[in-house]
Amino acid sequence: MSRVQDSSILDDISKTLTVEAETAKFANIPREILDEFHTDMPQDAASAAPEPIQRVQVPAADFRLEASPRTPPTFQAVPPENVARMDMNALFEAVRECVGCPLRSNRKNVVFGAGSANADLMFIGEGPGRDEDRQGVPFVGEAGQLLTKMINAMRFSRSEVFIANIIKCHPPGNRNPEDDEATACLPFLRRQIELVEPKVIVLLGAIALKYLMGRTGITRARGNWLDYNGIKVMPTFHPAYLLRNPSSKKDVWEDLQKVMAFFGKSRSPISGR
Ligand code: URA
Repeated sequence: MSRVQDSSILDDISKTLTVEAETAKFANIPREILDEFHTDMPQDAASAAPEPIQRVQVPAADFRLEASPRTPPTFQAVPPENVARMDMNALFEAVRECVGCPLRSNRKNVVFGAGSANADLMFIGEGPGRDEDRQGVPFVGEAGQLLTKMINAMRFSRSEVFIANIIKCHPPGNRNPEDDEATACLPFLRRQIELVEPKVIVLLGAIALKYLMGRTGITRARGNWLDYNGIKVMPTFHPAYLLRNPSSKKDVWEDLQKVMAFFGKSRSPISGR
């Protein structure tokens, strides 16, 4: 610190102490100590030109170096061979911790699946919507309520069946899953199917058909039995599609009756459906 700066700081302290003393706050400070702070700095130092401020010249290139590129986020999918060895609990933990695709940063909750781990009947949808993301449970929104009615109409309860999706995290704006997202997530679903060992899978909509079966064209495929590793698969329309196109409910009901017939369940005698 320069002597000029020393001088002005000492003056400030002195003035403060004087005021404090005069207001009796520090009335017990001896006069000679106060006087010491009044002592003028030597004349030559007080009048000397202020010390020039040293400005460090930084070449423009240095700023460019400082603005280093941000490291892109990394997505680390669990290797499928590890997933293939997991039991349901380990699978649940792996899904919960998953950072395998960009959806990890958008989700509130992963939506693992719900229902009985020994279910004979499994429903597979596309991916969690906003309500499912909030609750961490599949098919609880408007489309989910319609699915629950469909399950009940088939004379099953939600707790008897297993409900899952192609992807386990909500995509922003409810868009369709990207290929890399579905690919990163599919080993989890395939392992769930292996563990649950359902007798029948009902595939809900085009996205489920595309990613589980590698097929396009839900309108042509619906209502016709397919095979997934020895398990019977019934593709049908997604309940969200039915909300937009209620006239297709009768087609879905036909498809679901084929599944009921497989399980030896008759149509409800009360509703006569
Ligand atoms: N739509 C789906 O495909 N899955 C859900 O869980 C909810 C809505």
